[in-house]
Amino acid sequence: KKLAMNLSQLEKGGYPHFMLKEIYEQPKTIMDCIRGRINVEGNNVVLSGVIDNKGKFINASRIIIVACGTSWHAGLIGEHLIEEFCRIPVEVEYASEFRYRDPVITDTDIVIAISQSGETADTLAAVELAKSKGAFIYGICNAVGSSIARATDSGSYIHVGPEIGVASTKAFTGQVTVLSMLALTIAREKGTITKEKFESMVKHLQELPEKLKKVLEKTDDIKELSKIFTYAHNFIYLGRGYNYPAALEGALKLKEISYIHAEGYPAAEMKHGPIALIDNEMPVVAIATTDRIYEKTISNIQEIKARKGKVIAIVTEGDTLVCNIADYCIEVPETVEEYAPIVTSVPLQLLAYFIAVNKCRDVDQPRNLAKSVTVE
Ligand code: G6P
Repeated sequence: KKLAMNLSQLEKGGYPHFMLKEIYEQPKTIMDCIRGRINVEGNNVVLSGVIDNKGKFINASRIIIVACGTSWHAGLIGEHLIEEFCRIPVEVEYASEFRYRDPVITDTDIVIAISQSGETADTLAAVELAKSKGAFIYGICNAVGSSIARATDSGSYIHVGPEIGVASTKAFTGQVTVLSMLALTIAREKGTITKEKFESMVKHLQELPEKLKKVLEKTDDIKELSKIFTYAHNFIYLGRGYNYPAALEGALKLKEISYIHAEGYPAAEMKHGPIALIDNEMPVVAIATTDRIYEKTISNIQEIKARKGKVIAIVTEGDTLVCNIADYCIEVPETVEEYAPIVTSVPLQLLAYFIAVNKCRDVDQPRNLAKSVTVE
């Protein structure tokens, strides 16, 4: 028994939980994910699965992304990236809904299936359905040789290493990184991105591992902050644009491992109902990094403060505007807005982690959840 104990501690590399280990691995896993896909000069990115099927991507009339859970959140960011850079219409669907609703699919559609495990039953069924209708299927998986990876026509692995914690962390940032590289590769081939924007995106991509190290330096602050909110019964997470899926993902992390009820919303949607929930007992995590809708996000935060909500803001380093109105601020390094969810999701993983630890939850194996859902 003692030996088994030591082995499990060894596997966790000195961390108390796999989840914390995996959160901390992210500077390295992002590096592993981009390595080999960026040229030596550091000004070009190539996803070989895309290049091998260049014609398919250039002529695609539509891209449909199918996934479940955290992978579906990554898909929502993929939609922004592909539409912005490649000008191809994108739809993102829960695999479980897609497979049962007789969707319109043609042979000019590309279906991208995102799955960490590559074994999710609904995602696999969605792939089989799309295949039977003649679509080209691209997989974004972590587990090499997994069922979904084998069922697809082509794809890209995220290369983040095995993920053990049930709550997905490094797989999420890896998926978003691959989706960024996919969008950039298609856009370059299609000529829908300027040289300047492309090179700036490639440069910022390579800076992400260092930036994530900076985010991890905030761990102690986040741990302190977590104590204040451990006994909250509800949480709201807000974000706009690229940060809206990050808000959904932050809320999901908290639900999964702390069992606190949490909802993610696009910040501007609050006024259409959810703002009725705000009072001085409602913690609101607002992601408000500087981007083209920063000012709008600030107005949304003011609306929360006017109703006495407690605001925890995730902001860009050096921010003053949001920090003046929020109750607590967590700074993250500046990047282009397209990569914001990669840096803003990490403090939210840590916040969920510490709240769950404070509540003595089984962080790596939360109740009722499985790492891979191979049955319906
Ligand atoms: C399960 C896991 C989630 C995961 C989802 C999709 O619910 O607990 O963390 O996001 O399945 O899994 P996949 O392996 O397809 O990405």
